[in-house]
Amino acid sequence: MQPVSTRSDWERVVALRNSFRPHGPSTVDRTMAYAEAHPSRVPIDRRIAVADGEDLAYLVVCQAYWTPEPGRFDGDVFTGPHVSDKAAISSLYETAERMASELGATVVETWAPSYRPEYALALESRGYRPGQRNPESMIDLTAFDPEPWRQKYAPVFEGGLEMLTFDEFEQRFGEEADRMFWRLEMDLFADVPLPSPWVEIPFEDWLRDRQAAPLATEWMFVALDGDRPVGTTQLIKNWVDSTLMHNALTAVRREYRRRGIAAALKSRSLELAKAAGVLRVYTDNEENNPMFGLNVALGYREVHHWVQYERPLA
Ligand SMILES: CC(C)(COP(=O)(O)OP(=O)(O)OC[C@H]1O[C@@H](n2cnc3c(N)ncnc32)[C@H](O)[C@@H]1OP(=O)(O)O)[C@@H](O)C(=O)NCCC(=O)NCCS
Repeated sequence: MQPVSTRSDWERVVALRNSFRPHGPSTVDRTMAYAEAHPSRVPIDRRIAVADGEDLAYLVVCQAYWTPEPGRFDGDVFTGPHVSDKAAISSLYETAERMASELGATVVETWAPSYRPEYALALESRGYRPGQRNPESMIDLTAFDPEPWRQKYAPVFEGGLEMLTFDEFEQRFGEEADRMFWRLEMDLFADVPLPSPWVEIPFEDWLRDRQAAPLATEWMFVALDGDRPVGTTQLIKNWVDSTLMHNALTAVRREYRRRGIAAALKSRSLELAKAAGVLRVYTDNEENNPMFGLNVALGYREVHHWVQYERPLA
């Protein structure tokens, strides 16, 4: 097990991570910047597993500070191309559990992708229980026709609702913009189906994270009713492949739901992404979330799924 500290260590980490998650590759600079912004109060341990001079996997364990349980840890194993069998994955998870235990973990959780079925087998053999299932779906924008959606979203915007990019939102609200956007995100995340209840991230941590590896704010949208932010959709640009995006949070304040706002935000943002040359957008939702049905109506198709697994540590 080797610790991760130098830039060349991070290059190896990113190679392992991108091999494990080919649908959402990341750059070394951004990965290092996120790591740098990690809140100093939150325990984390990162290691590279090496055998016979080959990098096998990147192991990262981190206290799940977005949940109410101090003993809950994320324990993730990102294997590279040299690991494909259940026994090897099980042994890497055993190491991750030990790393988490040393930091005070009482429960470890992780997500297993269906495109690597040996992960679920390895986790089940170690006594992990399956929980939430999130289909990951993809839309091919070359086949997306915005026209029928324009007819649907026009009345939403003509009715007075505005859709601003974050840049426009910042110009309008100046110094208040970051705090307003954080408040909106925290309120909306509380309604996203997650394996554990959501705990608010302090504004300072949220801001440091955003500033460390800034997102392309022209692809983050806010729905405004007068001066009140009431919803958002966020397309995350991919810095490795400019034809690829990920649709992260889309959400609408409770009292504004079922008025077509999510459909308007999503379809308009996809129309803009298509016009900018983006070819594919990925997203994931909890399987029973109404968002999944809206995604399918837009043209997203499930490509694989992720299952959350957890086990208590003895
Ligand atoms: C999912 C969510 C964003 C939908 O927002 P919304 O603005 O109410 O959605 P829309 O009004 O545009 O609905 C579009 C279509 O989605 C479907 N839909 C939306 N909410 C639904 C619900 N609660 N039950 C069943 N279908 C629903 C319907 O087909 C709807 O069309 P219709 O109203 O003509 O029947 C909203 O419920 C939300 O914020 N949930 C919490 C956050 C979340 O889970 N976000 C997704 C994970 S990132």
